[in-house]
Amino acid sequence: MEQKQVRYTWHKVFDSLAEAREQVPLRKLKQLVLDGRAVCFAHTPTGFFALDDVCPHLGYSLSKGTTNYLDEVICPWHSYRFSMRDGRECEFRTRKAVLHQVELREDGVFVGIEQTAATT
Ligand code: FES
Repeated sequence: MEQKQVRYTWHKVFDSLAEAREQVPLRKLKQLVLDGRAVCFAHTPTGFFALDDVCPHLGYSLSKGTTNYLDEVICPWHSYRFSMRDGRECEFRTRKAVLHQVELREDGVFVGIEQTAATT
């Protein structure tokens, strides 16, 4: 039987928590490019989030949008709201946003991009 094993490619995006907070102030968004992939990095009172910087509706850059108190990112084009906790659009009008892992480690802040590998 084939099982899917989730693996991540980890990218160090900031050298420290202080640098992350300075580069991405509370309630702000910033586009990062990791191996050619545009990622929207967000800072909310809950913490940091990362997701593909492509709106699932019509592809606009989510990092040009805003955040709210529900840990949602609001696309600036048609104002669809995506939860950065589970990727869902608040009114189920389109596909989920693609979320990525964020880890705060002693040596910095990392974003993990999922890679799926089939194993037997
Ligand atoms: S392109 Fe983002 S809501 Fe339409």
